[in-house]
Amino acid sequence: MALLGVNIDHVATVRQARRTDEPDPVWAAVEAELGGADGITVHLREDRRHINDRDVRLLRQSVGVKLNLEMSIAPEIVDIACDVRPDQATLVPERREELTTEGGLDIIKHRDRVQGAVERLRERGITVSAFIEPIPDQIKASAGVGFSAVELWTGAFAHADKPDETRAALDTLARGIDVGREVGLEVLGGHGLTYRNIAPIAAMPGFTEFNIGHSIVSRAVFVGMREAVRLMKELLERHAPPEARS
Ligand code: PXP
Repeated sequence: MALLGVNIDHVATVRQARRTDEPDPVWAAVEAELGGADGITVHLREDRRHINDRDVRLLRQSVGVKLNLEMSIAPEIVDIACDVRPDQATLVPERREELTTEGGLDIIKHRDRVQGAVERLRERGITVSAFIEPIPDQIKASAGVGFSAVELWTGAFAHADKPDETRAALDTLARGIDVGREVGLEVLGGHGLTYRNIAPIAAMPGFTEFNIGHSIVSRAVFVGMREAVRLMKELLERHAPPEARS
């Protein structure tokens, strides 16, 4: 069964709404781990709109499962990642005006800058993953610049509102998984996954991990982080492809 990385950015979003010290994403990470999270994901954005430098450094000390840092390829952020050394860095596109990461990083267009960042991170022993759209040429280019994993953008699936769009998005993801495996990459998925839509994605063979944030934090408001994570883990287990069930 695929692993679950819990993105806790929006715990920090609530804190930043009042520029105070609660709720603390470090506490949220502890609760997520107790609920069964296999990884904790945070995005240190250049504008620090939610997660900040203090969070990343404390999480590095406190998280016992995989710590995945989502980040742009801005030199300042790459410097911080090289210093903090998360287990994994996921390179994402970043635009200040966006509400959340929209679409994937264009590895082909930004090849030289991306490759430079990948090399620096790998030298520090960090596993590097690319958040990209499930486009075969982008997946092959990711392998070419030295990534060991790709996280395929599941937004087209999440935003589909007609059955044929959903089917097409799942087919595109399935092809992306095949291409990724052919070129030796680990294949993760993320963006827009929720308790309501996870079943067909969890049932796809080949995804090793999902990164899920907004939906889990939203559920945690009502049932607590530990229970919210436990419920998502239960769905991943229930819908896992038969050969992957534990
Ligand atoms: N994966 C990546 C690379 C992301 O940028 C995000 C959003 O921060 C997520 C997963 C989680 O998306 P969501 O909050 O929609 O679950």
